[in-house]
Amino acid sequence: MENRGEAFMNKNIGEVLLDEKTIEKRVKELGEEISKDYAGKDLVMICILKGASVFYSDLSRAVKVHFKMDFMSISSYGDAEKTSGIVSIKKDIDTSITGKHVVIVEDIMDSGLTLSYLTRLLAARQPESLRICCLLDKPERRECEISPDYVGFTIPNKFVVGYGLDYEGYYRNLPYVGVLSPTAIH
Ligand code: IMP
Ligand code: MG
Repeated sequence: MENRGEAFMNKNIGEVLLDEKTIEKRVKELGEEISKDYAGKDLVMICILKGASVFYSDLSRAVKVHFKMDFMSISSYGDAEKTSGIVSIKKDIDTSITGKHVVIVEDIMDSGLTLSYLTRLLAARQPESLRICCLLDKPERRECEISPDYVGFTIPNKFVVGYGLDYEGYYRNLPYVGVLSPTAIH
């Protein structure tokens, strides 16, 4: 197998949309906002695996209030380009969220179908409150009435990778968010 190192990954990126410094600054701001909003409240932040893992790891350390971490792994039916909105839970959270304040942490809101399904599912467990925090938002692609409560960046309708976001499972470890070149997509 060809050596697919850093240079290989970088050469497949057509455009760097958000560099490391820009992301770092914005994640700190989101952390401050969440810290202010949830001071004195019983908070659970749910990381949606795998895409949100990198964002969650930085965001959680920028949140300065007491909170519980939990993780959920879901799979949505549909292809890489388009989700159907039908989601199945591969790994559920371990914590009870009934009566708690909950923030769902996701990598990106695209059609919105995944998060719309997920919020309905979690709302049925009767949390005290339920909000969504997304690193990225692509509002042009929305197919249902939903918007994140906390947004890192609003981006154009382009397929992006890095900082947790993948193409066929790869590129999640890029420290920045970039647009994948059409030549790297097959
Ligand atoms: P939605 O249900 O259409 O909002 O889909 C959201 C999911 O699609 C995200 O959690 C991502 O896994 C994936 N996704 C949407 N847009 C992109 C992108 O530009 N790059 C990588 N993954 C994406
Ligand atoms: Mg994904």
